[in-house]
Amino acid sequence: MSFLGKSLLDTDSLQPEQIFFLFEKARKIRDRKSSPAQNKTVALMFFEPSTRTRASFEMAAYRLGCHVLNLDPSRSSVVKGETIEDTAQNIEALGPDCIIVRHAGAGMPQQLSQRVKIPVINAGDGMRGHPTQALLDAFTILEERGRIEGERVLLVGDIMHSRVARSNFNLLTKLGATIGVCGPSTLRPELLGQKGYKLFTQLEEGLEWSTVCMLLRIQTERMESFQIPSMGEYNARFGLTPDKLRYFRDDGIIMHPGPVNRGVEITSSAMEDRRCRILTQVRNGVFVRAALLSSILGVEV
Ligand code: CP
Repeated sequence: MSFLGKSLLDTDSLQPEQIFFLFEKARKIRDRKSSPAQNKTVALMFFEPSTRTRASFEMAAYRLGCHVLNLDPSRSSVVKGETIEDTAQNIEALGPDCIIVRHAGAGMPQQLSQRVKIPVINAGDGMRGHPTQALLDAFTILEERGRIEGERVLLVGDIMHSRVARSNFNLLTKLGATIGVCGPSTLRPELLGQKGYKLFTQLEEGLEWSTVCMLLRIQTERMESFQIPSMGEYNARFGLTPDKLRYFRDDGIIMHPGPVNRGVEITSSAMEDRRCRILTQVRNGVFVRAALLSSILGVEV
């Protein structure tokens, strides 16, 4: 059960009781007003752009009263040729209590965790995994739908390039949800190496089936050649619009890990739908990450 002093590198290693332990702690953090004063420092090393994850870890650290050491790779000695491994060991030598890393290379957090003695938290590695996004998504489903077991979660869009899809597939099925998949065949999932999902070719059918609609960003930066005819064609077939939302249940929820391509995965008017929980996900991320940090660092909440 204990996270104390451990790394979080993927969702495979998480047991259901550990996940629910974190969720209970996240609720305590959400409902508490004051920050416990702590003498811990977390180091952020983001080698890929990020708005939500980086700021969310920073806010989570502040909620626990921790200090934050923020490495900006574009202004670091990485640009002079220092390796990521040497950079991590030098950051460790400065004395933080854990390192949070995002990198385009799949497996980089695992590799760094073997080179430093302090815990490493994976904040997204290539197309491989994004465990804390999956944790905050599961927490959001639990809070908004009242359960995870028995939920029908439809993953829509660029599943092939999505680390969010991989981590969510792993975590949500472990907690008893059923996964549906819908998107262009060129962006679909022999990839996930998973069995037991339902495949939908029409978004309307997937929406009728699902209780949770999780949209995924079209990741043009990871496509070797453009794998869809055009953004307009994608939006017409797989984009969430008010018209298509008529097929979605009244008490369902719409999710997207962000960043959103407005007018591609979802129209601005569909983002205004009362079932949309995209900003709720962002807000929950702070509590879930604070719960994880406090568990790893041994910070009382
Ligand atoms: N969801 C997510 O990982 O967003 P960022 O890339 O902005 O961190």
